[in-house]
Amino acid sequence: MTVASAESRNGNYPGKGIGQAVGVAILGKGTVGTEVLRLIQEFSENLEHRIGGPLAVRGVAVSNVGKHKDAPEVQGIYLTDDATELINREDVDVVVEVIGGIDYPRKLVLAALQAGKSVVTANKALVAAHGSELADAANEAGVDLYYEAAVAAAIPVVGMLRRSLAGDQVQRISGIVNGTTNFILDAMASTGASYEDALAEATRLGYAEADPTADVEGHDAASKAAILASMGFHTRVTFDDVYCEGITKITAEDIAAAKKSNQTIKLLAICERLYDEDGNTTAVNARVHPTLVPNEHPLASVDQSYNAIFVEAEAAGRLMFYGNGAGGAPTASAVLGDLVGAARNKVHGGRAPAENPYADYKVVGFDEVPTRYHVNMTVDDRVGVLADLARNFADDGVSLSAVRQEESGDEAHLIVVTHKALERDLRAIVQRLEEHDAVKAINSVIRLDA
Ligand code: HSE
Repeated sequence: MTVASAESRNGNYPGKGIGQAVGVAILGKGTVGTEVLRLIQEFSENLEHRIGGPLAVRGVAVSNVGKHKDAPEVQGIYLTDDATELINREDVDVVVEVIGGIDYPRKLVLAALQAGKSVVTANKALVAAHGSELADAANEAGVDLYYEAAVAAAIPVVGMLRRSLAGDQVQRISGIVNGTTNFILDAMASTGASYEDALAEATRLGYAEADPTADVEGHDAASKAAILASMGFHTRVTFDDVYCEGITKITAEDIAAAKKSNQTIKLLAICERLYDEDGNTTAVNARVHPTLVPNEHPLASVDQSYNAIFVEAEAAGRLMFYGNGAGGAPTASAVLGDLVGAARNKVHGGRAPAENPYADYKVVGFDEVPTRYHVNMTVDDRVGVLADLARNFADDGVSLSAVRQEESGDEAHLIVVTHKALERDLRAIVQRLEEHDAVKAINSVIRLDA
């Protein structure tokens, strides 16, 4: 391990001086960009005190100038469709990227960093896919790269990992980091609705987008898991490293069964360390999947579209961060917090603590991770079936923690809950059970928060 932080490699970072204006370019003027502009104007005096100099918006880049030119928040502000020209203006010190997508903003953010501008981005997909490339570019140029808004909007989890727990040892992070899926699961639990009906309600109320794939398939949460794991474990974890399973197969029956056993199904992003027998970290893993959470766990009571992130650290113990994880104003609040930090550094000099992947743990796939399964099967109700199916688990050394059988005619519902075993082994057992004569159907396989 080389002990040389980015800061020490890059020497000093002189400031412009107190009272000097900090030029800002805003790329994108959707819901978040509009709210950022509005807040910069509304809070300008307070922001100046906090930064040590005024924020001066040098321009806003949009794809269609005509569409935005009459909006009240851009009156007197340069509006352009040439983002690159705006970024490269000499009087721009900080670039705020709130466009979304990956390839186009990646080019712009890299160009900004290479031109010596600090960058604030709300773009989780970009950071999860290309965070290390962007962090390297920021280190090379000696500028800041901030992305608090990329995970759970104004809930201060990135800053918490970057600063507050910088001296601690984060052991595990588990979180509800997608509001749309939490709304759907909560609606299913509180009304007994099917997944399809709860999704329709989420769409009607504006929680789910017209194409809800990124949310319901867990992709949005997986980007956030990659960012949290990278920050928490000082190791580069990308979107592709994260196992991802969404909520589309969760049924009203699954929800009812969870309730019966005093549990709640949540879509969790889980980032954890794997240890050897001496308690040393051997690897890290990040994943997203529906999870049975005991009702007494603080995450179980996170309802509606709220987000919550539960962090376990060696010295700090258990911490939970809760709030609105999406929406124009909460996301803009996080962007503004980052903007104040980046602007303050431009005025006073210095850099924010950068991503620091010094630990460089091995990132293992889900197969290598111990987990627990809750398997619900429909089986023939005849002598020897239960023993035979249980033997499938025993043959692979998997111990069962509970078995429950409910009769219905000549069939039975068999619910098996395992103790911890490797995901790979549990998956193989379920595949074998699928082919077993006595098994009519595997109704659901849901993991427990082990
Ligand atoms: N679509 C996300 C959610 C917010 O439902 O929480 C943006 O990441």
